Amino acid sequence: MFNVKLYNKSNALQQTHAMKYLEEYKSIINWKMDSTILDIGCGDGSLTSKIFKEIIPNCKTMIGCDISEDMIRFANEHYASERGNFTTLNIEGELPDQLRERFHHVISFFALNWCLRQE
Ligand SMILES: C[S@@+](CC[C@H](N)C(=O)[O-])C[C@H]1O[C@@H](n2cnc3c(N)ncnc32)[C@H](O)[C@@H]1O
Repeated sequence: MFNVKLYNKSNALQQTHAMKYLEEYKSIINWKMDSTILDIGCGDGSLTSKIFKEIIPNCKTMIGCDISEDMIRFANEHYASERGNFTTLNIEGELPDQLRERFHHVISFFALNWCLRQE
């Protein structure tokens, strides 16, 4: 669906929009201290990492997930740390046990629109 090499050259506008909205709504979102956060459809991990560093630096753990193994491989190679990593997941399917009831916040940018099954 997405080519990771092309993707990370072309998502600057998406990142700008996502960061702008997170800044605008941060007082409403009320991020919890020491929280664990899941980013659904994280793509190459660059936006996940930027959010982690610039918007919610006091969060404890951030996990990014994506249906694309290529995206997850790239994300883990470039943006994983002791506080965050990336895992393959098709959000249209069942949530695996290790991702259930584990997160304080779940975010997603420009990804859920790609899901055919919306329930
Ligand atoms: C436009 S990219 C957005 C990536 C990132 N959120 C960003 O804003 O830079 C959409 C991503 O959603 C992923 N995606 C599409 N369908 C998905 C699904 N069913 N489950 C998980 N990820 C999915 C794609 O592989 C792609 O990486």
